[in-house]
Amino acid sequence: MAVLEIVKAGNPVLKQKAEPIGKVDSRLRKLLNDMAETMYSADGVGLAAPQVAKSIRCVVIDVGDDNGLLELIDPVITEREGSEIDSEGCLSVPNVFGDVERSAKVVVEYTNRWNKRKRLAAGGLLARCIQHELDHLEGTLFIDVAKSLRNGDKKQ
Ligand code: NI
Repeated sequence: MAVLEIVKAGNPVLKQKAEPIGKVDSRLRKLLNDMAETMYSADGVGLAAPQVAKSIRCVVIDVGDDNGLLELIDPVITEREGSEIDSEGCLSVPNVFGDVERSAKVVVEYTNRWNKRKRLAAGGLLARCIQHELDHLEGTLFIDVAKSLRNGDKKQ
């Protein structure tokens, strides 16, 4: 595994709509391994492929809950419920935080690394993180949708 370089806001790859993946192969599994290592080494809870300069539709997430490491390939949110405003940051936008309104609960359908289609219902931080990471696949950063932004080195 390898720690990859995380691209920062201003890089055009972060503004592109990412391409569908389709069938998962060993090369993609290796990328997912590297994305997970990159996320953990940066102390993040999620990382989308465009953040490592790959404009393809996969993300890794680990919010420290019972789900452990989630790898979502070609993910689609199929259900939404409620709405919540909370603070977010992003590894591609260092030292900036902002309040973002998200659905409180979502259902996401995705392909796993073994080409099985899966369905996951999520609330709380996991639901927020899924929506943040899937936005990356549309070329949207949280700073584009935040109600307010602030500088700082801590999430608060
Ligand atoms: Ni992000």
